[in-house]
Amino acid sequence: MCGIIGIVGTNPVAHRLVEALKRLEYRGYDSAGIATLGPDGLDRRRAEGKLVNLERFVGENPLPGTIGIGHTRWATHGVPTVRNAHPHATQRLAVVHNGIIENFRELRAELERDGYRFESDTDSEVVAVHATRAMDRGAAPREAVHTTLRRLEGAFSLAFIFAGEENLLIGARRGSPLAVGEGRGEMFLGSDAIALSPFTDAIRYLEDGDWVVLDRDGATILDAEGRAVERVLTRSVGKPFYVDKGNYRHFMQKEIYEQPEVVGHTLGAYVDMTSGRSRLPGEVALDFGAVRRMALSACGTGYYAALTGRYFFERYARIACDLDVASEFRYRESPLDGVDLALFVSQSGETADTLASLRYAKAAGLKTAAIVNVPESTIAREADAALPTLAGPEIGVASTKAFTCQLTALAALSVRAGVERGRISGAEEAELTRALSEAPRMIAEAFKLESQIEAIAREMTTHRHALFLGRGSSFPLALEGALKLKEISYIHAEGYAAGELKHGPIALIDETMPVIVIAPYDGVFEKTVSNMQEVAARGGRIILVTDEKGAKAAPVAAAATLVLPDMPEILTPIVYAVPLQMLAYHTAVHMGTDVDQPRNLAKSVTVE
Ligand code: F6R
Repeated sequence: MCGIIGIVGTNPVAHRLVEALKRLEYRGYDSAGIATLGPDGLDRRRAEGKLVNLERFVGENPLPGTIGIGHTRWATHGVPTVRNAHPHATQRLAVVHNGIIENFRELRAELERDGYRFESDTDSEVVAVHATRAMDRGAAPREAVHTTLRRLEGAFSLAFIFAGEENLLIGARRGSPLAVGEGRGEMFLGSDAIALSPFTDAIRYLEDGDWVVLDRDGATILDAEGRAVERVLTRSVGKPFYVDKGNYRHFMQKEIYEQPEVVGHTLGAYVDMTSGRSRLPGEVALDFGAVRRMALSACGTGYYAALTGRYFFERYARIACDLDVASEFRYRESPLDGVDLALFVSQSGETADTLASLRYAKAAGLKTAAIVNVPESTIAREADAALPTLAGPEIGVASTKAFTCQLTALAALSVRAGVERGRISGAEEAELTRALSEAPRMIAEAFKLESQIEAIAREMTTHRHALFLGRGSSFPLALEGALKLKEISYIHAEGYAAGELKHGPIALIDETMPVIVIAPYDGVFEKTVSNMQEVAARGGRIILVTDEKGAKAAPVAAAATLVLPDMPEILTPIVYAVPLQMLAYHTAVHMGTDVDQPRNLAKSVTVE
């Protein structure tokens, strides 16, 4: 992961580098650093931990210079110490890196044999030292970078500055994203357009294998062979507003509360609210008529959205769905026989495993589609059909509003597919889309449970483990509820299909085990209730999330019952996600963890 930034301009850059890194902190936050070229040559400031530490350090020890690079790190090789923080530098140059250099051991050994010394444990430092060796052998900076790029294996984006070259910034992209920003008399490099949004909205995205040579007045983009190439100039939509938490205590809380609005926007892209007809957004061309089998793939929360999508597509469109986490899909060598469409789900659109799976499916000759929240992202650009979620920028590392928007898009798409495949009538379509249009209102109803959830959360902090159970389309929610709780509160939580309880996890149940049962009053309610009784019989503490009918019908007294309004079945995953998010959020707040930036995580996972 990691975020990188580069600026070549006429004004001092140190402060602006740090400002840009704040917008990239979602990509990693275990250390950060900047390097600039001042009158005394290359100089760096690096600090362990969150960006505020670097900011303070730079405040106390200013760096001059009108050209510089910066980095926020999510450690892959080497613990997060100052020594391993980027930029890595030699007498000749400084470099920042996002990604993994897979052949770094071999390169490091070769460079050490030539007498070069390393000061860090990172894979990235070989880039700095290799380019330095090329320059020691007489290469100019541009040639040294090209020579180095040819030796690197793995996925990376890079930005270099050079001693004595105050008007030269070089970047490169293979696998990890890199954008070139154009300003007036200054040029920029950044991991994404959001980082560059305070400086410019004129962006060119590098394609895989591209590298770029920048000075204050412009950029020359080159392909892997060193030939100049043109890349389209786009106007970015990344606006500065996203760094503002408003009156909320955390981004996660703000994003939970944005859900009625953004789910409504997303729905509007997939449903014509006036006619009640489902539709595809904007220019998207995708024909479900001939789709009989689909392969779905994603990571983390996106995977749980895809898993819910399977319930939607199988039920409403009668399309058989194969499902894989992307890190398995890409290597499983699945024959993909009979698959007519591969569908990927990603908030960031940059997740390395999901991107690799998309490329694998394309190489196998499949038509591909991707539900993506960042329209300029690599996955959105490479999929045959990019299906947007309109969640807006999601800053909290734990996904909330992107998840419910993914579910909304998947539900509406499954209705569209059902219509195109002649599996649902016009009247059924109207009924389903009317049901979906209730999502914003129902989510707002879920907010009314907040004080009750807060009390449950307070109690939750006394436990070290929790189980989440659900059946049917509530099963993926059990997985998502458990993921949310563990990633931000660090309480160990597992999600299970309720029917699986007796096949093992029931051994864990005693009076110290909270069991969150997600059971809307649907076709499998009675079955879930039987599993609940099994928990009650063993003294487990049940927290039941259900609706009015379910609360009346449940024969077992739960320690707490969260009652949502009765609602159509297609809506339940979207709405029931919300109390689970609030439970995780309040538990984490009570535990005093860093809710928006939980330990060891990053928002955009661009390494495998
Ligand atoms: C969990 C979470 C992650 C992401 C996963 C995929 O709250 O956010 O599990 O869902 O890393 O990321 P995207 O959706 O960007 O591909």
